[in-house]
Amino acid sequence: MITLTVGLGERSYDIVCGRGLLSNAGDIVAPLGRAGRKVFVLTDSDVAPLWLGKTVASLRAAGLDVSSGTLPAGEKTKRFDSLMAVYSMFADAGLTRSDLVVTLGGGVIGDLGGFAAATYLRGLDFVQIPTTLLAQVDSAVGGKVAVDLPWGKNLAGAFWQPRAVVVDPDVLDTLPDDYFSDGMAEVIKYGCIRDRDLFARLDEAGSREGLRVHIEEIVMRCCDIKRVVVERDERDTGERMLLNFGHTYGHALEKYYNYEKISHGAAVAVGMRTICSIAERKGLTAKGCADKITALCNKYGLSCRDDAPYDEVVGAIASDKKNLNGALNVVLLRDVGDGYVYPTDGGFWL
Ligand SMILES: NC(=O)c1ccc[n+]([C@@H]2O[C@H](COP(=O)([O-])OP(=O)(O)OC[C@H]3O[C@@H](n4cnc5c(N)ncnc54)[C@H](O)[C@@H]3O)[C@@H](O)[C@H]2O)c1
Ligand SMILES: [Zn+2]
Repeated sequence: MITLTVGLGERSYDIVCGRGLLSNAGDIVAPLGRAGRKVFVLTDSDVAPLWLGKTVASLRAAGLDVSSGTLPAGEKTKRFDSLMAVYSMFADAGLTRSDLVVTLGGGVIGDLGGFAAATYLRGLDFVQIPTTLLAQVDSAVGGKVAVDLPWGKNLAGAFWQPRAVVVDPDVLDTLPDDYFSDGMAEVIKYGCIRDRDLFARLDEAGSREGLRVHIEEIVMRCCDIKRVVVERDERDTGERMLLNFGHTYGHALEKYYNYEKISHGAAVAVGMRTICSIAERKGLTAKGCADKITALCNKYGLSCRDDAPYDEVVGAIASDKKNLNGALNVVLLRDVGDGYVYPTDGGFWL
């Protein structure tokens, strides 16, 4: 078992990781509050038949008073409209200020359940039990919770840190390959921005199967990189931007396809290759980075290629409201393992 503490003063919490840890979730959750406390487990319709029973059994065995609710699986569930259903589940369960919410699922359940916890009764404790690779290495750590509004993704949200994050890599055994690849884009991103050894280990392992024996360490290495960045910049006003490597072009691509044709991870993979190619041409990144990233992504089911017209995708970046006066910070690599924030003018992408 590996434990990391995210040091945020009175909002500090542990990320605990171990194979089979789900069976001991109760031992981690119970000491966080009073004995016999009510716990509400929120999950989705894909995860419930696989992992809810084990989770509830472990929480009950630790003396907690457990109820649960299941929402349809998929990004559509992260809409603002779902909040009412979640609040109504909390009310039916009779949750009070001293009770706790557990989010058991991927980033959708973590973000939605976390936002519901942040707002119900002006804020309930919550514990994340991430079940996708993306959630384990990214969304469950850092305290960003949100729902999507009709005008865009994550538009209503909060910074609400969990009381603990319980990571059991064994739950990934049931995760379909496409979702595993999606998470790998973020794992590769961490190697790119901060850890060339991680990048080399991923390259050596060479496939999902090859990674299996190292997965616990790999997941925790990613969490640790995110931990350091989040501790220095909890509210995302500076260094946290590094985590956006590959995401500027990636997000624009997702938007171009209306969040339908391309997954987030596939888009980020294209984004990492694209920005490295541009920066290599400008002499801002060591030659060969884009090729190394593409070769590694390919090993994990990410093509780094897409047919969308470059000019149109880049046009969306320029028109983004956040890019005031054409100025935009992008994340570049000096070389693999060494990311930095680079202020650009409107001409960078041309
Ligand atoms: N809060 C943050 O900092 C942050 C960071 C990155 C992404 N996100 C958000 O995360 C969301 C995407 O998360 P995601 O990729 O985990 O998607 P997801 O939660 O939709 O999960 C993907 C699919 O996998 C299924 N699933 C989950 N665990 C499984 C398991 N162990 N076995 C089998 N199936 C399983 C889910 O039911 C779902 O169908 C997006 O909404 C994104 O905005 C948030
Ligand atoms: Zn991402």
